[in-house]
Amino acid sequence: MTKKKNILITGGAGFIGSHVVRLFINEYPEYKIVNFDALTYAGNLENLTDVENAENYTFVKGDITSVKDVQRVFEDYNITDVVHLAAESHVDRSISDPSAFVKTNVNGTVNLLNAAVEHWKDAYDEHLFYHVSTDEVYGSLGETGLFTEETPYDPKSPYSASKAASDHFVRAYHNTYGLKTVISNCSNNYGPNQFPEKLIPLLINNIKNNKPLPVYGKGLNVRDWLYVKDHATAIRIVFENGKKGETYNIGGHNEWRNIDIVELVCDLTDAKLNREKGKSRELITYVKDRAGHDMRYAIDATKIERELGWKPSLRFEEGIEITIEWYLKNTRWLERVTSGDYLAYYEEQYSR
Ligand code: NAD
Ligand code: TYD
Repeated sequence: MTKKKNILITGGAGFIGSHVVRLFINEYPEYKIVNFDALTYAGNLENLTDVENAENYTFVKGDITSVKDVQRVFEDYNITDVVHLAAESHVDRSISDPSAFVKTNVNGTVNLLNAAVEHWKDAYDEHLFYHVSTDEVYGSLGETGLFTEETPYDPKSPYSASKAASDHFVRAYHNTYGLKTVISNCSNNYGPNQFPEKLIPLLINNIKNNKPLPVYGKGLNVRDWLYVKDHATAIRIVFENGKKGETYNIGGHNEWRNIDIVELVCDLTDAKLNREKGKSRELITYVKDRAGHDMRYAIDATKIERELGWKPSLRFEEGIEITIEWYLKNTRWLERVTSGDYLAYYEEQYSR
């Protein structure tokens, strides 16, 4: 018989975290899923209204940078496993305020690792600390080549430097204390529930509102896009079958230049809004490039496919259609997120 687990998912009110929380609630009815999130600007419990009353689910408002909050959640819920997604995640914000990224992404991760060591020290092998990371830790590629799990770390933005540091701490705790850890490094995600500061939801929102579409530099930077639910499925597979101490790269084999994504989103959104073809392309506005802008990311995901049998289920052409439709349909979600009204949801829902 499988032992009952109490799984702490950090950052579960965010974009990827909310998809992971929903998947785990549905896939593991016998386990308790504890969503631990500070509800920063990026955390939105309205992402989870469809599952918030599930019997095996609890939300705990807490901050990974607070030793007290972290200790308390481990004790109160007898946490057996961690899937750690909570982070500051936006590169542009990391350029304006790097220290916030060190605090959350580095110190916050170390607090969680310390709690895991303390609470699990008698039986490390029965517990898993799963750290969710990004391909950005590998730096920037030229025109060819792919990031593999062996690519040396070479982070170039404050965001990726903070994620790289957190990855190093996770490996150090595995090596030093014997904590059972796994790490996955994923490429750019897209899909429902992403905060509209990131490229794809920002484009859809601006097209809808006839606002300029800012393209950094010449729009020639390349990203490898993966549908968020495919990332969540990969996380479940790594959680179940990932080998201790290992790293798995996750990606969509789906590289796009930014300008091509922008034009595609313009055309697909125009068609759905019954606008004249080419109308939204008129909104494209080239703006000053991001400082230190990484040129190209692309993932070699053969290890996770070969060893754990995961590969993306959705073609990009399908995923982007579903995504655009979701943002056009969920106007209330988008309006509340852009106006800040969603921040009041926790009070309404959880102060009763
Ligand atoms: P997000 O910004 O949408 O969500 C982050 C969540 O973490 C929010 O709910 C926020 O409230 C919470 N949080 C932030 N600081 C916290 C703190 N101090 N204590 C507790 N909770 C806190 O991020 P996302 O895009 O869903 O990314 C999730 C994870 O996946 C991150 O670790 C990120 O580095 C990684 N990742 C993201 C992508 C991507 O394309 N978005 C790709 C690869 C990896
Ligand atoms: P983003 O969604 O911020 O993800 P990341 O920087 O983590 O890859 O940006 C994706 C790409 O789009 C990146 O090359 C920067 C570019 N970009 C723009 O050109 N305009 C924008 O308004 C934004 C937010 C991003």
